[in-house]
Amino acid sequence: MRLVVTGGAGFIGANFVRTVIREHPHAHVTVLDSMTYAANRASLEDLIKVPGEGGSDDDEVRAHLAGGPARVELVEADCADAAVTDRLIAELTGPDDAVVHFAAESHNDNSLATPWPFVHSNIVGTYAVLESCRRHDVRLHHVSTDEVYGDLQLDDPAKFTPATAYKPSSPYSATKAGADMLVRAWVRSFGVRATISNCSNNYGPRQHVEKFIPRQITNILDGRRPRLYGSGANVRDWIHVDDHNSAVLRILSHGELGRTYLIGADGEHSNLAVMTAICELMGVAGSGGDRGFDHVTDRPGHDLRYAIDATVTREELGWEPRHTDLREGLQQTIDWYAANRDWWEPVKERVEARYAQTERVL
Ligand code: NAD
Ligand code: DAU
Repeated sequence: MRLVVTGGAGFIGANFVRTVIREHPHAHVTVLDSMTYAANRASLEDLIKVPGEGGSDDDEVRAHLAGGPARVELVEADCADAAVTDRLIAELTGPDDAVVHFAAESHNDNSLATPWPFVHSNIVGTYAVLESCRRHDVRLHHVSTDEVYGDLQLDDPAKFTPATAYKPSSPYSATKAGADMLVRAWVRSFGVRATISNCSNNYGPRQHVEKFIPRQITNILDGRRPRLYGSGANVRDWIHVDDHNSAVLRILSHGELGRTYLIGADGEHSNLAVMTAICELMGVAGSGGDRGFDHVTDRPGHDLRYAIDATVTREELGWEPRHTDLREGLQQTIDWYAANRDWWEPVKERVEARYAQTERVL
């Protein structure tokens, strides 16, 4: 199996590549990543090293890589660059070969400050990937988000399903919605062999420290105070990144072409509840009126609640999430950030300096 994984040096993509290498002994993975600020070479470095020259701390990954020549390569390029993307996708000629398209600008706060890179990567980038898949008749899985559906009220009994209408709120979610629409059109008009998945909020190792959970964990590890937007009433539907990726692999192998699958693990929690859990697990929950974190300026247009109904994905594909205890997953994630300071420390200061320009303690 040969895969081109766009965005494979980012959070979910890099964890996906690691899962593929563990589970598919003969896989050959080409990561196509423009190495934006969100990418981290260190997330893949041990996979790319030639066996015998050191490499992974992960026993399963090391055993796999030792069995033959290194099978992960990193091509640093923009997926909107049609010439490079086309050259890589043209090499996918086997029956199990595919493109898994993770590449995107992914952070809502950044999309509010600077929308253009989101239009470029998420829409123009997806267009270039689609055109190459069409030209070479290559199978595509497009990775998308639950944010395309807008938000729900806190007491809304309905969750998002594949039939929910699109109603994106931010420049980020609007460009992801645009990309999904392109994929649907290329399936219908040109017969491109594609599937789409829309997943809820991921957490786990190797997530950029601009995002909610790793930001709070690394703030505490760094002696800074955690930061909660507004009252913290907003609800997110958390899923461990490995569960997201096991669903993507299941869709690749068993999904029906042209279909959209929703991925979620029934992990709804308010931001306040997640923040409180992190502070407790890390021993900084304060006494008296101080709960150990600051409330800060809210995000403009802040979506209130996301919630996924993944019944179809579970029942049709036989997929089940494994990490269903958020507290346990948070502890594992805290342990990873504590043990891998080299991975995040070089970018932490810059991220916090950027937040400091707009954020005020309430
Ligand atoms: P991320 O920001 O951590 O990683 C994105 C990667 O894409 C980075 O390595 C970046 O360098 C690369 N990239 C960006 N523009 C590119 C371009 N034009 N060409 C090539 N590479 C480019 O994001 P993530 O959290 O890993 O998200 C991956 C995908 O999953 C995105 O499509 C996102 O919309 C989707 N998604 C994310 C979540 C979540 O909770 N993080 C949930 C559902 C869906
Ligand atoms: O739902 C899927 C989406 O989840 C993905 O499509 C996005 O790529 C991903 O970034 C994520 O979007 P969110 O905006 O929900 O994630 P973020 O980590 O930025 O914020 C999660 C919640 O926490 C949100 O309600 C805002 C809040 N927040 C965020 C930060 C960074 C805080 O309260 N404090 C913070 O410091």
